[in-house]
Amino acid sequence: MKVAITGGAGYIGSTLVKKLVDDGASVVSVDNLVNGDYRHLRVVLADEGADLREGDIRDSGLLEELFEGSDAVAHLAAIPGLVKCRDRPEEAISVNVYGTHQVLEAARTLDIEKVVFCSSAAVYGQPVVMPVRESHPLSPLNLYGVTKLAGEKLMETYFDNYGMETISLRFGNVYGLGLYTNYETVIPKFVRMGLNDEALTVYGDGTSSRDYVHVEDIVQAITRALNSKGKGGEAFNVGGETVLIDTLAEQVSESLKEATDRDAQITHLPPRPGETKNFSYNLEKIERSLGYKPRWGVKKGIEQVVQYALKEARD
Ligand SMILES: NC(=O)c1ccc[n+]([C@@H]2O[C@H](COP(=O)([O-])OP(=O)(O)OC[C@H]3O[C@@H](n4cnc5c(N)ncnc54)[C@H](O)[C@@H]3O)[C@@H](O)[C@H]2O)c1
Repeated sequence: MKVAITGGAGYIGSTLVKKLVDDGASVVSVDNLVNGDYRHLRVVLADEGADLREGDIRDSGLLEELFEGSDAVAHLAAIPGLVKCRDRPEEAISVNVYGTHQVLEAARTLDIEKVVFCSSAAVYGQPVVMPVRESHPLSPLNLYGVTKLAGEKLMETYFDNYGMETISLRFGNVYGLGLYTNYETVIPKFVRMGLNDEALTVYGDGTSSRDYVHVEDIVQAITRALNSKGKGGEAFNVGGETVLIDTLAEQVSESLKEATDRDAQITHLPPRPGETKNFSYNLEKIERSLGYKPRWGVKKGIEQVVQYALKEARD
């Protein structure tokens, strides 16, 4: 199988490239390196392991050259997250919406049958019914969610109009160690704060819940979607475990205490605008249709990040 990946230098993308190469796939990645770095892959892959290219997904000529001969596309390249999209709205719309259209058009021109799109729980906004199923109303609270919803609608349209097998995967909060960890996400951020003897900063009163899903489970979901048949036009929740933010901070604090004997304090700041109060996922659809089951729990994932951050600090 030949798979074209956009955003293969990123946190999730690099973990996916490594897994697909290990499974025997031929992989080409396009990434403009605005947030990613191929050095993590170059350390773990032999030179011929994957074709790692620098380029922009809005460049249709480049996409057609690189996607040629692929059986499927995994589309991860994006300006990810509420804060980055709020701070760079024009780039966010250009990359996340127009860029997604360019990826679909390149796939259509080359008769590639399958495109898997990385969407987000942000498309739901504040849930009115929990746990959230895929049929829940879509009402994003911020620009990031709006761009992801637009991407999903493009996926649906390419299925309806051209019969392309497009699948959208709505990730919860991704954490854990892939080829590296992303210190902008809450668990590694807490770990780093604790190791720097800073208080762990919780926005809001700490009673907000979120779904936390390990990056290896995300890769499991993407590979299952890439290998699926007859799921075109569908969207799936991809989650792990629902945890309160205060519980998460306490678990990080306990894990740091065990590993380093440090006492990390927890502090609360006002909630940030555009964030959901509570969120939990119903995962029945992806379990039934794609055979996905999360293998990681948050406690084990936190311990992994603590050990990684300690090793980084020593090296
Ligand atoms: N990490 C999460 O918690 C999470 C949650 C929900 C959804 N997602 C989605 O998963 C995908 C991957 O996220 P990630 O956490 O690995 O982010 P990331 O920033 O690490 O990876 C995205 C990659 O896209 C690349 N990129 C950005 N603009 C580009 C462009 N114009 N052309 C080519 N490459 C470009 C970046 O350089 C980066 O390597 C994104 O689509 C993101 O929205 C992530």
